[in-house]
Amino acid sequence: MSILIKNGRVIDPANKIDDILDILIEGNKIAQVAKNIKIAAKNVIDAQNKIIAPGIIDMHVHLREPGREDNETVATATAAAASGGVTTVLAMPNTNPAMDTAQNVELLKGIIKQSAKINVLICGTITKNRFGQELSDFGALKKSGVIALSDDGASVDNDVLMLEALEKAQSLNLLTICHAEDKVLAAKGVMNLGFNSTRLGLRGISNASEFERVARDITLAGKTKAALHIAHVSCRQSVLAIAQAKQQGWRVTCETAPHYFALSDDNLLGYDTNMKMNPPLRSKIDVAAIKQGLKDGVIDVIASDHAPHTEHEKDIEFERAQFGVIGLETELAVSITELIASGLLSWKRVIELLSLNPARVLGLDKGSLSVGKIADLIVISPEDQWRVEKNKIISKSKNCAFLGKNLVGRVDYTICDGKIVYQK
Ligand code: DOR
Ligand code: ZN
Repeated sequence: MSILIKNGRVIDPANKIDDILDILIEGNKIAQVAKNIKIAAKNVIDAQNKIIAPGIIDMHVHLREPGREDNETVATATAAAASGGVTTVLAMPNTNPAMDTAQNVELLKGIIKQSAKINVLICGTITKNRFGQELSDFGALKKSGVIALSDDGASVDNDVLMLEALEKAQSLNLLTICHAEDKVLAAKGVMNLGFNSTRLGLRGISNASEFERVARDITLAGKTKAALHIAHVSCRQSVLAIAQAKQQGWRVTCETAPHYFALSDDNLLGYDTNMKMNPPLRSKIDVAAIKQGLKDGVIDVIASDHAPHTEHEKDIEFERAQFGVIGLETELAVSITELIASGLLSWKRVIELLSLNPARVLGLDKGSLSVGKIADLIVISPEDQWRVEKNKIISKSKNCAFLGKNLVGRVDYTICDGKIVYQK
């Protein structure tokens, strides 16, 4: 199978390319990137006025399988991902059973082999059952193929245990991903603590519940020289703490999610539970700090934190509704709309945030369009406008924070491992 993509604007930050070019894919690899490739390919894609970029690498995705197949499955999540331009996901380990043993990882690997439409990588847990009491067997997890560790959904509260975890992870060269939340400080809150939580009569979650845990984890990363990645950064003080850690030369990286730069706690005024996630939508001041962090390089990665929940878990009283929103199908378009169309960031920078940087953080040989690499790439119509509609969502769950929103930028083709896995 060969695919020739003609006359697209190829944006490949890894190779400092931004030019009108053709790309030839042969088998599962990129065979040529050049002007006017004159080879008869089986499949020719006209990419005039379109952008060709490396596929999105989304390092924070809840697939829900095994255990919550009513929310989402590997098949439905990866189909949704492909339609959103995502070619690789890192599956978070808060499944049932959790990814805390090699045996459980093998179970998920079997499901992935059967039903995944794109690359799925697995994150193991830091502690057994994510209970924060006893460390998982990192060596066995690594052997079974996990590429990172996280108790996402929870933080390891015990400082000594977290120190030990980072030491072990560092000796095995495994990345640790931190869900930074002090549950005592979060105090059963359901939205951001501030004027809006007072107005709505809902319990608030302070910025401190996030940034104090970020500060602790950074201190431990500095002590252990371990690679640490802070997940879903939402507030200004976290951005500041991470900037300081980077200045120290510590191996600290971080991500934010599209809802943290596109929305604020003003969006909660209608008690819409599709605006409920953890960490919560913050104030406009925090949103500005997140945007600044994306611009000046403190924030390395945009990831969706795709967290599907069924209608009966979401379409209920705000306080009882589950935390989390889906994001695989909208992360690219929300990034284009909020960051590029607004003039804040360049295409190159957004592609770095969505593809090259997550590849680097995870140590993957991906995120570029170099000749000889596996062909994971996307073709985008940068000016196509569309509206997010519930009945068009591919994900099994429809808990999207952008329902009804008009977005710009749409995926025409997603090619993964040299195969067309999505076509508009
Ligand atoms: O909103 C969230 N939902 N935050 C998390 O950390 C976990 C996630 C989930 O698994 O639903
Ligand atoms: Zn989390």
